[in-house]
Amino acid sequence: MKTKILTTSKEDIETAARIIKKGGLVAFPTETVYGLGANAFDADAVARVYEAKGRPSDNPMIVHIARASDIGQLTRYLNPDIVALIENFWPGPLTMVVKKRPEVPDRTTGGLDTVAVRIPQSDAALELINMAGCPIAAPSANLSGSPSPTRAKDVIADLDGRVDAIIQGEDCRVGIESTVVDMTSKVPTILRPGIITAENIEAALGKKVEYDSSLTEASKHIELDPSEGVSESDFKPKSPGMKYKHYAPKADMLVVEGQRDRVIAEIERLKGLNERLGNKVGVILFEEQAFIEAAHDFFAKLRDLDNEGVDMILAGALSDVDGVGFAVMNRMLKSAGYNIARV
Ligand code: TXA
Ligand code: MG
Repeated sequence: MKTKILTTSKEDIETAARIIKKGGLVAFPTETVYGLGANAFDADAVARVYEAKGRPSDNPMIVHIARASDIGQLTRYLNPDIVALIENFWPGPLTMVVKKRPEVPDRTTGGLDTVAVRIPQSDAALELINMAGCPIAAPSANLSGSPSPTRAKDVIADLDGRVDAIIQGEDCRVGIESTVVDMTSKVPTILRPGIITAENIEAALGKKVEYDSSLTEASKHIELDPSEGVSESDFKPKSPGMKYKHYAPKADMLVVEGQRDRVIAEIERLKGLNERLGNKVGVILFEEQAFIEAAHDFFAKLRDLDNEGVDMILAGALSDVDGVGFAVMNRMLKSAGYNIARV
């Protein structure tokens, strides 16, 4: 398939919108990561998204809308908490899981009776959704398993020839995917951490939220047995996307966790050791407490190191138990397949 490489000009977005209307696939920028979009109500188009990504088809997608009133096309049920989060965080990097209307195809929701929805905060994305005239289902625009794309060139590397069009926009401002919160349970439950934190959501709702047990289990396993590592099959997450091997670079990856001085020393030691064995080693070490920057750079760094052809990536863990750093750690540990050294 010949992929059209488009700009964010009005004419190009019109072209992209026509492709979506006809059941085609368009990759587009959002503020979090690039998405690969199709008409959320066109089950065949959605099936082609799975195909292009090489993704297992029980994994549900996030449906993107352009204005809050369009949520009525997807769900009938808006409780006051949902309304409060819409008012506080949309457009923005917060996805809510709500009860779905029967009209939303099973293909889009992976057979679940819920649907994940958000309004992205990027002009190109909003114009595309508006011009297409339908909600757009879009997972991240990477091949399944590889790091999420935060730059147009990353999307082109993965999807050129596999999709109808790619809109080349700016680098994504946030750099990690949206926070996913399940609004169908009694207590709102965070299924995927992101730049909008539990604390932010609690402040907006005036009540406590929970983390899905798979998120807290992961850190518990690390506490208990750092040397063994944790296999993803140990978890039974509610958010089906979490059970697949995710974000993995081609290189082997190890996360070094502990007190900062020791982490730096251990990374230096392991780097030297591996280089003497003839391995090319890449290092990911963010400034202390620079969590927003870490979120912005993490996936891009993984891809850059892969492009440099490193054999091994050594990453310093961020010390943050529930904020933005925690959201980055969620991705970092998955990328490393929970391969962790504690110092
Ligand atoms: O920032 C983002 O969210 C990006 C941009 C493109 O919007 N999209 C994204 O999509 O990250 P994806 O498909 O890579 O991740 C969607 C996550 C998965 O973990 C999936 O399991 C979860 O949302 N999800 C989707 N629908 C769900 C549902 N009905 N119930 C529970 N989890 C759901
Ligand atoms: Mg993804």
